[in-house]
Amino acid sequence: MFQKKKQNSKRKRVTVLTLRAMKAQKQPIVMLTAYDASFARQLEVAGIDVVLVGDSLGMVVQGHSNTLPVTLEHMVYHTASVARGVSATMLVADLPFMTDRDLSHALEAAKRLVGEAGAAMVKVEGGAAHVLTIIEGLIARGIPVCAHLGLTPQSIHKLGGFRLQGRELEAAERVLTEARAVEDAGADILVIEGIPASLGERISQALAIPVIGIGAGPHCDGQVLVLHDMLGITHGKAPGFSKNFLLGHDSVTAAIEAYAADVRSGTFPGPEHYSR
Ligand code: KIV
Repeated sequence: MFQKKKQNSKRKRVTVLTLRAMKAQKQPIVMLTAYDASFARQLEVAGIDVVLVGDSLGMVVQGHSNTLPVTLEHMVYHTASVARGVSATMLVADLPFMTDRDLSHALEAAKRLVGEAGAAMVKVEGGAAHVLTIIEGLIARGIPVCAHLGLTPQSIHKLGGFRLQGRELEAAERVLTEARAVEDAGADILVIEGIPASLGERISQALAIPVIGIGAGPHCDGQVLVLHDMLGITHGKAPGFSKNFLLGHDSVTAAIEAYAADVRSGTFPGPEHYSR
């Protein structure tokens, strides 16, 4: 069924080149998570640019309190499911906890997520030296990379909870330095999560690669949300930077289309969805 629908899609496939061109043309990039083929299909129909199979599935699908229990097997299963629902939408998959402990484990995980499950890019959290080595190693082997800085959920215990990062001057400079470092290592795009809008703006301006924000203010090159948060069906409390787009819309597709339209028009995120 999904195979047949794929052939009907008229949209051109989104690639790293598309995302780079969108940044150059100041066209906001719309990214959203999904974890199965049916919801992925809704994203495809709604014209979302990038679908992220995030390890947030540990929280919103599996019901854990953080992303740490998610395994590579889980990621491969959900990434392969999402791949059956999309054709033009670019598919990014998270490297789950500890698959980024060194380059060889990261390459093994990327081989499965890209080669077996169908991802076009993998996402890795943090800006530590070993992560830079991993980014360089993946890029050298032709695997596109999305970096992830700021509030990095796999470091939740070190961060002391899901809290805003980069608020103090020194911490903000550290995130900016890491952002430059992941770009220099070859990352194709960067997700910045849970930082003040002013820092989100500085990073987006300083980097040539597209910068996608989540709780990082309105000045990023694009926005990403967790699907369950933006549909108001999150297991537990949704973060304050999210918005329930199903309110006032009569279908999941309409809610996702409204999210895409609001990101593209600059209406989302509004001042109530970020810190200054
Ligand atoms: O796992 C995830 O869904 C993510 C997004 C919050 C960016 O990393």
